Amino acid sequence: MAIPKKINTITCIGAGYVGGPTMAVIAQKCPEIKVNVVDINPKRIEAWNDSDLDKLPIYEPGLKEVVADARGRNLFFSTEIDEGIREAEMIFISVNTPTKTYGLGKGMAADLKYVELCARQIARVAKEDKIVVEKSTLPVRTAQSIKTILEAESNGQQFKVLSNPEFLAEGTAITDLYNPDRVLIGGDEDENGQIAIQALVDIYAHWVRRENIITTKIWSSELSKLTANAFLAQRISSVNAISALCERTGADVDEIARAIGADSRIGPKFLKSSVGFGGSCFQKDILNLVYLCRHFNLPEVGDYWEQVVKMNDYQKHRFAKQIIDSLFNTVSGKKIAFLGWAFKKDTNDTRESAAIYVAHDLMSDLAEIHVYDPKVSKEQIIKDLKIVSSSTEEFEKMQSLIHFHDEPYSAMNEAHAIAVLTEWDEFIQYDWQKIQKKMLKPAFVFDGRNILDKDKMNMFGFKYKGIGKGE
Ligand SMILES: NC(=O)c1ccc[n+]([C@@H]2O[C@H](COP(=O)([O-])OP(=O)(O)OC[C@H]3O[C@@H](n4cnc5c(N)ncnc54)[C@H](O)[C@@H]3O)[C@@H](O)[C@H]2O)c1
Repeated sequence: MAIPKKINTITCIGAGYVGGPTMAVIAQKCPEIKVNVVDINPKRIEAWNDSDLDKLPIYEPGLKEVVADARGRNLFFSTEIDEGIREAEMIFISVNTPTKTYGLGKGMAADLKYVELCARQIARVAKEDKIVVEKSTLPVRTAQSIKTILEAESNGQQFKVLSNPEFLAEGTAITDLYNPDRVLIGGDEDENGQIAIQALVDIYAHWVRRENIITTKIWSSELSKLTANAFLAQRISSVNAISALCERTGADVDEIARAIGADSRIGPKFLKSSVGFGGSCFQKDILNLVYLCRHFNLPEVGDYWEQVVKMNDYQKHRFAKQIIDSLFNTVSGKKIAFLGWAFKKDTNDTRESAAIYVAHDLMSDLAEIHVYDPKVSKEQIIKDLKIVSSSTEEFEKMQSLIHFHDEPYSAMNEAHAIAVLTEWDEFIQYDWQKIQKKMLKPAFVFDGRNILDKDKMNMFGFKYKGIGKGE
């Protein structure tokens, strides 16, 4: 037996936001490779197999076309995990790695129990040598733990572990996968490690230029992913910190972003001020980085990165407080329309969305929240509120204060205020003049994404407050 050089079959464990789109693109670009995507969640798999492509479990522009192209040809979704493991020469682990909610490292460290379960299952089931690829975002040196488990549980098979973190952004997953800035592959320096790296390089080389495929030592690859997310989130927190100062001084944060972004050393991307970043990754990955720093006895480094998350929390609470302050110090019984619930546009993902925390703060002050989001379901919003409730009573209270709308106008009709929580393009196109006429006066708009034109909104008679826009 030997580490496979040529890959005929890939199996990916985890059919989520990363596993689904990533494997769909690999299958589309490598028609000669069979790609299985397996998951323990039968409902998710059923949705991936739905003949109605609008019912895929994940909304991403362009995804349904890719699935339509490859599904049933060389892309298969199933709950047969053991069979998938046996059949494949290369196995991707793309399961969730949430923040631990219990025990040592609670609230900070990544919970690796799902990854560990996968490693044990692979070792138990595999009959031949395999390449195991970490696609999930993992703390540095996890590959060593995976290797130890694989070796301890196996029946003499060899495994090579690679790190291949995913850099796609939700909302642009397909274009990011088609044209990645880089693909990163980390592996061991020994001969088998190099064979494994080459096998994965050959897959990506079907559509990614070789100079954009970076190969590194395994620890560097693992730590690069956490570092990339920490740097991205840091930029958002930095510009958000300046937005608070803008509001006190009358400066305009968008003008500042434009001015500093023109400096080629800074660059224009990721400088948009907002109510705060969300998504399943930034907060979890930074907290994980903080935990690692403290674990390796680097408290000053940990404190430095933790401030990025603290600033983000501050921004969400500051936004909610501004709404309460502006509405004459109480929102009790007032109708507040929420435009958007997803953490960003072009996705139905709501994990860690700023909307959840702003709604929680406002409902603590007994506001009536009326939500419209083009892609997020009522059931998902209720689940999100449950997660942030501290007790059953609080959850019940919030359920009585939240209202759902299938279209935007009823959400805003006779509202005291509108809060823009997601930057969906359609919000910009609304007939704002008509909306103003149907609201209670003064009609407030709190633009948490700075997508509306301040001058126009003021001209229509709104009291417009953007993030970092001064008075
Ligand atoms: N979402 C993103 O934008 C993004 C981007 C880059 C990296 N990542 C990382 O990728 C990983 C996956 O993220 P995601 O957003 O796809 O998560 P997700 O929650 O959408 O999907 C994970 C899937 O794994 C399945 N799963 C869990 N344990 C399993 C097991 N033992 N066997 C089979 N299936 C199992 C779950 O049922 C779920 O469907 C995480 O580590 C995340 O940090 C996410």
